[in-house]
Amino acid sequence: MTKPRLWITRRLSDATLVRADRDYDCEINHDDRVYSSDEIISRSKEFDAILPCHSEIFNADVAARLDPRIKIIANHSVGTDRCDLPALAAKGITVTNTPDVLSDATAELAFLLMLGAARRAVEGDALVRQGRWDFWSPAFMVGKQVSGARIGIVGMGRVGQVMAKRASGFGMQVHYYNRRRLPVELEAGAQYHDSLDSLLPIADFLSLHCPATPDTTVFMTAERFAQLPDGAVFVNSARGALVDEAALLSAISSGKLLAAGLDCFVTEPGGNPAFATHDNIFMLPHIGSATRETRDAMGFRALDNLDAFFAGQEPRDKL
Ligand code: DGY
Repeated sequence: MTKPRLWITRRLSDATLVRADRDYDCEINHDDRVYSSDEIISRSKEFDAILPCHSEIFNADVAARLDPRIKIIANHSVGTDRCDLPALAAKGITVTNTPDVLSDATAELAFLLMLGAARRAVEGDALVRQGRWDFWSPAFMVGKQVSGARIGIVGMGRVGQVMAKRASGFGMQVHYYNRRRLPVELEAGAQYHDSLDSLLPIADFLSLHCPATPDTTVFMTAERFAQLPDGAVFVNSARGALVDEAALLSAISSGKLLAAGLDCFVTEPGGNPAFATHDNIFMLPHIGSATRETRDAMGFRALDNLDAFFAGQEPRDKL
């Protein structure tokens, strides 16, 4: 039987590529360069399926111009904000993602951002690294303690729930806002808020874990930052599109926020150069799910979805 022709648009983990190459007639992007939308459109006639990452864009225009040969887009990501789902559905294209398998890694990174921001990691690392550490005193590099503080989690999906567990382990008081309250057993003692207006004023630490959708785009406005307690720490490991970056900068410059930890930016790759002038913004380059274990698991989950689809079944993660 002829194997389906699959286009893997980025360099995935070795184990993923070995399995994909075994089961599909694969084109693998060994150079790992990012294809433009025009290239994706013009080459789509060569493939039955695409396995893209968050770096490729499938907006309404791309969806409309994809060749009808493409039957499925099996994303290697949980976030599908770069896919216009209604437009792809209208074209008869199945879309899947990779939930669950990256929740631990992403929550770990959110915790790193939170601790790094609260305990002045950028400033401290630079002092030691640059040989400028020539002084110590009890008043030196004093940060904000995480244990005992209140964390506000926005979006209590899979990653939010892992974040809540880790925060409880650190002795934090966990509060969350979600569209729907979780069943009590999943709340694990966390306190539900039915609005951001209720959550933000008590969030000593605020961590975003919701997807970027038309409803959540730029929901962190100047007004929202103003609702946080003075000296709060803001953490974003979800999506840059959730945040008004100018408002975040103002909240940092004015001292309203003590610090921020960011893995996601409006412009990616690249980030926001204006953040770099602030030592109290601890930044990483969108690497929430970047662990060896998680990359394998994401690749396998995307392949599981493709296998189900080409076996005539409904893929587990069909959106
Ligand atoms: C995701 O899976 O959505 C991560 O942000 C990586 O793309």
